[in-house]
Amino acid sequence: MTISVKAIIGSTSSTSYNLKVVEYLRKKYAGKLDITPVFINDVDMFSVDIENNQPENVKDFLDNVRDSDAVLFAVPEYNFSIPGSLKNAVDWLSRSNFAIKDKPAFIVGASMGVLGSVRAQLHLREILTNPMLSPAILPNNEVYIGSIHE
Ligand SMILES: Cc1cc2nc3c(=O)[nH]c(=O)nc-3n(C[C@H](O)[C@H](O)[C@H](O)COP(=O)(O)O)c2cc1C
Repeated sequence: MTISVKAIIGSTSSTSYNLKVVEYLRKKYAGKLDITPVFINDVDMFSVDIENNQPENVKDFLDNVRDSDAVLFAVPEYNFSIPGSLKNAVDWLSRSNFAIKDKPAFIVGASMGVLGSVRAQLHLREILTNPMLSPAILPNNEVYIGSIHE
């Protein structure tokens, strides 16, 4: 039985390096892991005004992530943190009946800086400690791919 992994692509770029990293992982672990990219481009901006009347694009995103054995976050770095679009998606997850609580999770990231999104990943780890999120992040494994454009 293969394990279903939903890979949240933390970039909205059509030429995203982080998407390419996920494509590489998808091929490398085919047969063991069924890795499917989840795009956040169409996820509406979170507002408490609509959280109980979610747009279809939000429902699709949340259902997609929920329907998995594990979640992979592929994280670019924007201004020493995660892109706002990824934070928006995570905010929705936090208001979605514990969609990723205790779900196995893993974080990878690529950026053009030499530190390979380390600051963004540290921010994401901190955000994910919120009790409304708190996935079970695989410890002792960290992936930082710097100077990705080279
Ligand atoms: C608004 C913005 C801010 C950025 N800030 C950083 C940064 O703080 N550190 C870094 O290493 N790269 C930074 N970059 C460069 C990104 O690492 C680069 O655009 C990378 O390709 C993003 O990942 P993606 O290709 O998956 O979208 C920034 C890019 C943008 C557009």
